[in-house]
Amino acid sequence: MNDTLGTDVAAEIEAGLATLGERFRGAFAACNSEPELRAANAAILGKKGELTSLLKLLGRVPPERRREIGEQVNATRARVEACFSGRLLELAEAARKADLEATPFDLTLPGRTPAPRGHLHPITRVKDEILDNFRSLGFEVAWGPEVEHESNNFTKLAFPPDHPATDMQDTFWVHVAGAPPDARLLLRTHTSSVQVREMSTHAPPLAIVSGGAVYRRDDDPTHSPMFHQIEGFLVDERVTFASLKGVLSEFVRRLYGPNVPVRFRPSYFPFVEPGAEVDIGCVFCSLDDGTRTSCRVCKGSGWLEVLGSGMVHPAVLEHCGIDAERYTGFAFGLGVERVAMLRYGIPDIRLLFENDPRFLAQF
Ligand code: PHE
Repeated sequence: MNDTLGTDVAAEIEAGLATLGERFRGAFAACNSEPELRAANAAILGKKGELTSLLKLLGRVPPERRREIGEQVNATRARVEACFSGRLLELAEAARKADLEATPFDLTLPGRTPAPRGHLHPITRVKDEILDNFRSLGFEVAWGPEVEHESNNFTKLAFPPDHPATDMQDTFWVHVAGAPPDARLLLRTHTSSVQVREMSTHAPPLAIVSGGAVYRRDDDPTHSPMFHQIEGFLVDERVTFASLKGVLSEFVRRLYGPNVPVRFRPSYFPFVEPGAEVDIGCVFCSLDDGTRTSCRVCKGSGWLEVLGSGMVHPAVLEHCGIDAERYTGFAFGLGVERVAMLRYGIPDIRLLFENDPRFLAQF
């Protein structure tokens, strides 16, 4: 190869170095972020950078000048690198300083207002409270389904087949296509079906409470087609009406206060004998001195009916496979809505199921 060309290459490199000069200093100083700075550096020292392309020409410089030209290129590279590292450090320091001077993030600030939290429905609250009440008296909680066999809801509870409660007017029947006619289903009309389920599958002694929805064809200010009951029963040897009175009086006192008067009034349910309605002194109008004001809730009678109860009918025990000669028991049932309405002074049962937040927020 000829000298002329080699000399030209050396000159070209020197010209390139001169063009580059100290220009990089201004370019680096103008960069205000690390990525920007790295891009500017790559334009000089990267694969296709200005200085790199000069370096690639070095092989074509005549050997006698190569060392000298090479040193010039390297010296420039060292200056670029030093300038780059210096600016990189400056940027890192500036970033740290800005970070330190920025308004600190306050970990103790309260969070954004959380989504409003709901609470249990008043029916659920009252139901749980009553179940807890019986639990503390030694009862165990059981559960039964809302779609029930006719036999558990009526037949085994000694309802005669033509009892008016079984009428279309009173009971929601569930029709299942192809079901045999002797296995009819219904929406349970009371929680007493749980008595049958538990007594048929467990041997005495038994002390059980259960709660849940029941259904009847009723709809007016004090009746809803769906409402809730608590059921309970106790079966053992030597259970008497005195046991019933003792347990239910204690329960009523726990629920309505220690001084509320309680009375047991004869009543009829097919699955108990004898049967009794439990009344408490009207919590709205009975005055401490025994006198009464006129009252819409108790209709002036001074008494409120709060429980149905009675001694489990021997026929029911036998239907469930329990020896009625050896065992006796008592049972009771009460409406949860009634307790809630008395407690909170709710005038219309339908308010409890309309789920208007303005109503529910009051509990
Ligand atoms: N099941 C009855 C009703 O729904 C209440 C009751 C339960 C009465 C247990 C006596 C014993 O009215």
